[in-house]
Amino acid sequence: MSSLKEREAWATKIGLILSMAGNAVGLGNFWRFPRLLAANGGGAFMIPYFIALLLLGIPLMWVEWATGRYGGKYGHGTLGPMFYVMARESVKPRKALIFAIIGGMLAFSVTTLLNSYYIHVIGWTAAYSIYSATGAYYGADTVNFFFDHVKNFPMVMATWLIPMILLFIAAFRGVSKGIEAFNKVMMPLLYVFAVLLAIRSITIGSPVRPDWSSFTGLNYIWKPDFETLSRNFWVISLAAAGQIFFTLSLGMGIIQNYASYIRKGDDIALSALTTASLNELAEVIIGGSIAIPIAYAYLGPEVVKSGSLGLAFMALPNVFTSMGEVGRFFGTIWFLLLFFAGWTSAIAMYNYLTALLEEDLKINRRIGAVVVFLIYLMLGLPVALDPSLTYFAELDNWVGSYLLVVLGLFDVIVAVWLFKPDNLWKELHEGALMKVPAFFKYVLMVLTPIYILILLVGTTIDYYNQGVFAQADPLIVQARIAIIIILVLGAVETYLAISRKYREELAKNQVIVRAE
Ligand code: PHE
Repeated sequence: MSSLKEREAWATKIGLILSMAGNAVGLGNFWRFPRLLAANGGGAFMIPYFIALLLLGIPLMWVEWATGRYGGKYGHGTLGPMFYVMARESVKPRKALIFAIIGGMLAFSVTTLLNSYYIHVIGWTAAYSIYSATGAYYGADTVNFFFDHVKNFPMVMATWLIPMILLFIAAFRGVSKGIEAFNKVMMPLLYVFAVLLAIRSITIGSPVRPDWSSFTGLNYIWKPDFETLSRNFWVISLAAAGQIFFTLSLGMGIIQNYASYIRKGDDIALSALTTASLNELAEVIIGGSIAIPIAYAYLGPEVVKSGSLGLAFMALPNVFTSMGEVGRFFGTIWFLLLFFAGWTSAIAMYNYLTALLEEDLKINRRIGAVVVFLIYLMLGLPVALDPSLTYFAELDNWVGSYLLVVLGLFDVIVAVWLFKPDNLWKELHEGALMKVPAFFKYVLMVLTPIYILILLVGTTIDYYNQGVFAQADPLIVQARIAIIIILVLGAVETYLAISRKYREELAKNQVIVRAE
């Protein structure tokens, strides 16, 4: 039990909620979401998006919170050992180890590789906050300006170090004194900035052409468009479900990690739902009122619908320029908003790896925080050295869009089926401030896994049709090799961690260690 006493915990409830919201609210909300929404027919995208939120997102959120708090009772903050103690409820320890290795390996690959490019995007937002304040892109071609920026290696590295050093400081200080303290400042600021921008957006009128206004932009998003949806049913539905995973930080291991620091007997049911709601507030209500409507009013529907990577970093700078001097202010808070959103998510990944070193491999947190810094430094380098962003895009294809969903499937297999639905329900309701309708139990047992399977098969076919498999550019090959190496390392790490702590149990192949 001594390991339980030493385990860190969130200091306050509000700190936990803000940190979990910080985890979920990320670049996914303000950057990825508008891009997908615009490119997938606006009101057509929203229909499968809300269906996926209800049948996939919210139920899995509960599962991941319950997994995390349950694992925390055994002193585990990483997914491998969590899956191990859960799978043991149905299968013998040696078989449980196999599921644990799959989960640990996937979570490790996501937290290392996804963050390796994600922190770079946070670095870009740091750079663009400065560019906005100084008006650096005023009068420039913003597309060229962006590519000049990513080609500017010293500037890329310098601005990338800003989030990196802050991440290091927070992880070094620990869960309550570091992560929670940073989130308590950054998250309220994030909402204030977002609301300011949303107000600016809807009060903008029609600055360029009478038929272009932020309201026509809002209309594009909110008017259900069944026709476009039925014409591109698969593509749009897959994009929407994938976004639900990404935006809620599902299938990454980081919700479970944060939930592992919740004290035994504290609520998770209502807190999980609150977090998901805060995320959706930031994504669809406030976030939906910023990028697309603003771009619609200034640049028109065509630019918006092209939905490229450009919306945040290329289209909006044009908008700020057209606003004149106040544009500098709005530009700066837009990029600071992105910075806070991204940083408070990246710290969850950083902490996952710190916990992995600390709890799985017994490396002191402070030394661990240094090691993780070095890992990201190494993994971030190939991203910075490829201004064509080919390597980045390939990692995103697999790690940021595919492996998450695979991990989500194992969430259901292990934490619902093997752990047993009744145990899960009991865990979810321990200390709960709300009762989750039993309807969701059946959704989780049947609908969610079918949904995920369809998503996986559909995405695979989609990649095949797009020719993703056939590409063999050296940078793409490099990305794939990186993924394979990391998966193997993750598997080995998980195996070592579990075989060390549960040696006797594995030798006898029967359950001995119990947390109760
Ligand atoms: N939910 C996060 C987001 O929307 C996902 C994420 C977390 C991505 C951590 C990267 C790192 O951005």
